[in-house]
Amino acid sequence: MTEIRDLLLSRIRDVADYPQPGVMFKDITPLLADPAAFTALTDELAGIAGQTGATKVIGLEARGFILGAPVAVRAGLGFVPVRKAGKLPGATLSQAYELEYGSAEIEVHAEDLGGDDRVLIVDDVLATGGTAEASVQLVRRAGAEVAGLAVLMELGFLGGRERLEPALAGAPLEALLRL
Ligand code: PRP
Ligand code: MG
Repeated sequence: MTEIRDLLLSRIRDVADYPQPGVMFKDITPLLADPAAFTALTDELAGIAGQTGATKVIGLEARGFILGAPVAVRAGLGFVPVRKAGKLPGATLSQAYELEYGSAEIEVHAEDLGGDDRVLIVDDVLATGGTAEASVQLVRRAGAEVAGLAVLMELGFLGGRERLEPALAGAPLEALLRL
């Protein structure tokens, strides 16, 4: 795992003061452009999907789509997109959550998740945990079980893990990199 961790870390670019002054943005595009790194990441996350007994993979728009879809294919599972509000045409469940400034809303097609599903939620970054927490609530409201949450990187200093613990209720939170 250490070798893979080093490979992944070496392909994440720090961009200072983006998207606003004082923020160090973690850019995953070099990782996506490197087939060895992107494959290693996909294999690691697909392994977590297998370990957790997931039946579906959810990806969180937008970067969670890029990571989650190949994980679903690799693990032989269905993929369910959780989108920002207003993008899904069918009957949706919506969940609002607070951002540092303002609020946001995410949605899922209710028919894509059922009572027999165990869902692995995939995203690139766990920061404050607001997006992930809202997605956990969506899965539960759809009647499905949360198998776990898997992210490429966790920004530990923002306290997302602590925030999520009650919502996850014992389901694992796997972060390949803790920054
Ligand atoms: C980013 C990131 C995570 C989320 C983490 O998404 O991709 O989804 O923020 O932040 P949180 O833990 O504080 O909720 P964002 O919507 O900013 O961008 P994206 O559409 O490129 O994924
Ligand atoms: Mg995102």
